[in-house]
Amino acid sequence: MACCHADFAALEGSDRGFTLGMPTFTFGPGVLAEAGANAAELGLSRVALFTDRRLASGEHVAKVKASLADAKVDCIVYDEVLIEPNDKSFQDAARFAKESNVDGFVSVGGGSVMDTCKAANLYSSQPAEFMTYVNAPIGAGQRVPGPVKPHIACPTTSGTGSETTGIAIFTLTSMNAKTGIISRRLIPTVALVDPDVTRTLPANVVASTGFDCMSHALESMTARLYPRRLNPAQGIKRPVSQGANPFSDALATQALNGVGQFLVRAVKDASDAEARTEMMYAAMLAGIAFNAAGCHLPHGLSYAVSGLIKDWHVPGYPEGRTLLPHGMSVVLNNPSVWRATAPTHPERHLRCAEALGASARGATPDDAGEVLANRIIELMRATDMPNGIGELGFGEAQLDALAKGAEPQYRVIKNAPIDVGHAEIRELFRSALRYW
Ligand SMILES: NC(=O)c1ccc[n+]([C@@H]2O[C@H](COP(=O)([O-])OP(=O)(O)OC[C@H]3O[C@@H](n4cnc5c(N)ncnc54)[C@H](O)[C@@H]3O)[C@@H](O)[C@H]2O)c1
Ligand SMILES: [Fe+2]
Repeated sequence: MACCHADFAALEGSDRGFTLGMPTFTFGPGVLAEAGANAAELGLSRVALFTDRRLASGEHVAKVKASLADAKVDCIVYDEVLIEPNDKSFQDAARFAKESNVDGFVSVGGGSVMDTCKAANLYSSQPAEFMTYVNAPIGAGQRVPGPVKPHIACPTTSGTGSETTGIAIFTLTSMNAKTGIISRRLIPTVALVDPDVTRTLPANVVASTGFDCMSHALESMTARLYPRRLNPAQGIKRPVSQGANPFSDALATQALNGVGQFLVRAVKDASDAEARTEMMYAAMLAGIAFNAAGCHLPHGLSYAVSGLIKDWHVPGYPEGRTLLPHGMSVVLNNPSVWRATAPTHPERHLRCAEALGASARGATPDDAGEVLANRIIELMRATDMPNGIGELGFGEAQLDALAKGAEPQYRVIKNAPIDVGHAEIRELFRSALRYW
C-alpha cells in the first residue's frame, strides 16, 4: 500500500497483510429490543444473561429479557460480575456458565460485564486451567483451540468498545497486575449498540469511559506501524493486535472527531442525546481500531497506577473498596506519553490533535507533542479529571514502584513507537504527576 499509505510501506521480512476482526454489529436507538430475534436467528434456545448488580434491576436488562422472552429464548441471569473484574470473579462466572447448560451468552453492561461474559464463555466452551489462555509472560498464552458459543454483547457504557474486541481484561490478584486474554474467538458474535442506554449513565462514568475511548483511538494511531511490528507471525498465526494500519487509522480518526466534539457535552448534560449517542458510536469505532492496532504506553502505565492506588473512590462507581475507573487511570498518563512519543511521528500526533479539535495552524513538527497534550489537558479540566497522578496520592517517592509495577505490561508497552525501560517509564510517570 505504498502509493497512498506511505507509512505502511513493506520492509524486508515484514508482514504484508493485516487482519481485522469485528462482530456483526447493529447501531441505533432501541436496538436492545432486537436481542431475542438475534438469539433465535443464531439458533439459541437457552442463554446465560450476564450483567452487574446495579444494572440487573434496571430498564436495559428488562428490555433485553423481554425481547428474549418474546422470541421464546430461555434466559438465566448472572448478576455477580465484579466491577473491574479479577481472576476469582472470572472463575466464579466460568463455574456458573459450566453449570448452567446454555447454548449461548448475552451480556448487558460495561466492559466489566462483557469481559466477564467472554471469560465465562471461553472456560465453559474450551475448559482449561485458568492461566492457560492468559497472556504470556504472566500466563501460558496458549491459543484457544476451538470455537466458543455465540455471544450477543450489549454495551451500556460508551468507552471500552469491548463489544467489538477479542479481549477480556482482569486483575491477577496474586501479582496485583492487570492482564488479559486475547483471541479472535472471543470477539462477540453480535453487538447491539443502543445509545439509549447512555441516558442513565452517571457523569463520572461518561467522562472516564470517554477518555478510555479517546486513548484507544490515540494508541491505535500511534502504535508501531504493522510492517514494523516485533512479532511478524503471518497468516492464521497473525496476532489479534498487529499495529497501526490504514483501517484502524480511519476508524480512530473518526472516533477522535467524536470525542473532540461531544465528550464535554455528554458529561455535562445527561439529556444531550446527540452527544451521548456520538460518544457511544466513537467508543465502538475505537474498539474496532484498537483491537486490530493494539494499545501501548497509556494502557500499560495505567495498570501500574490502578494496581498501586490506595483509598480512592469516585462517585458513580460502586462504594466500599478502592476503585480507580479504568478510563481515569488511562487518561492521567496521556499528556506525558504524547510529549515523549511525538518526535517519532510528529505528523500523526498533529493529525490526532486536530481530529480532537485542536488548532494546529502554524504548528511545526517540534510542537506536535505539546499541541496534543494541551488539547487533552483542556478536555481533562473541562470534565473534572484529577490533575495528574499526583492528585491520586503519588509523588517522587513512588516513581520506582510505579515503574516496577509497569514491568508485567512490557508485552503491551512494546507496541509503542519508542523503546522504553525502567528509567524512561519512571520519567513518564514523573511527567504525569501534575499537569496544571
Ligand atoms: N475488553 C476490552 O476490549 C476492554 C477495553 C477497555 C477496557 N476494558 C475493561 O473494562 C472495564 C471497565 O468497563 P467500563 O468502563 O465500561 O465500566 P464498568 O463495566 O466497570 O461499569 C462502571 C460502572 O457503571 C455502571 N453502569 C454501566 N452502565 C450503566 C448505565 N447504562 N447506566 C448506569 N450505570 C451504568 C456499572 O454498574 C458500574 O458501576 C475494566 O475492567 C477495563 O479494563 C476492556
Ligand atoms: Fe481501555
